[in-house]
Amino acid sequence: MVAAASATVVDVRGLTQVFDDPLVGSKITALNHVSFRVRQGEFVSLLGPSGCGKSTILNLIAGFLEPTGGEIWVYEKPVRGPAPERGVCFQEAALFPWLRVLDNVLFGPQAQGRRDDITAKALELLRRVGLEEFKNHYPHQLSGGMKQRVAIARLLMNNPQILLMDEPFGALDALTRLQIQEYLLTIHQEFRKTVVFVTHDIDEAVYTSDRILVMCARPGRIEREITIEEPRPRKREFLTTPDFLDYKRQALAVLWGDKQSEQAV
Ligand SMILES: Nc1ncnc2c1ncn2[C@@H]1O[C@H](COP(=O)(O)OP(=O)(O)OP(=O)(O)O)[C@@H](O)[C@H]1O
Ligand SMILES: [Mg+2]
Repeated sequence: MVAAASATVVDVRGLTQVFDDPLVGSKITALNHVSFRVRQGEFVSLLGPSGCGKSTILNLIAGFLEPTGGEIWVYEKPVRGPAPERGVCFQEAALFPWLRVLDNVLFGPQAQGRRDDITAKALELLRRVGLEEFKNHYPHQLSGGMKQRVAIARLLMNNPQILLMDEPFGALDALTRLQIQEYLLTIHQEFRKTVVFVTHDIDEAVYTSDRILVMCARPGRIEREITIEEPRPRKREFLTTPDFLDYKRQALAVLWGDKQSEQAV
């Protein structure tokens, strides 16, 4: 369970992101004064339609982009670029096809020249994601869900305190997705990670999150915050409860509201 008084880990202050659009010779305001905080150990989802700026926020927190306005503070320091405390995971697992599963997980620390007992740690992480017996397989011998689990093990190998995940399960079928969500929730709890998770899947956001920041587009902004009170560890039964439906309804009301106002323009 997340203690309400936990320290702020990510502090997004008045974030504005304007991109040049050379094709039409104008500018796109991808984000307009977005502010939110994420506390230690919290699981926060950014939920919203395509183009509302979810990935842009994640890339800014990761330090891959510099904001055109506003600031991001992580552990009370301004973000000036990527750092090992922030681990990033994208929709495609992007494993090295020529490396076995274990070597994919070991790649980062090995590239950094680490000599400590990283193999034992990698095997332990593979065990945690249920893939220890596939350590000698190559990525092409794995299913999409298995590849994403390897990607999670690889992400954890560098021991980031904050996991920034951009639709990591977007390409998976519904059942695999549910299973891997459970892996992620177990890891989130056991390793006490702070997670900022991007999704456009309402069920996924409700099932996994402590809080959902529901976004709207043009310009990208946070329209509503929904706190999911369901205790952890989350049970699959939660998915079929009236509470679950009610949370979904709250999120949909914001997202549909956005569509209706768009149609009215
Ligand atoms: N590097 C860039 N240059 C120009 N425009 C950009 C750039 N990156 C994003 N944008 C624009 O910013 C807006 C937000 O994009 P972003 O990728 O953050 O949306 P998203 O919410 O992640 O969408 P999706 O759900 O489709 O991934 C879009 O209008 C997009 O065209
Ligand atoms: Mg995106």
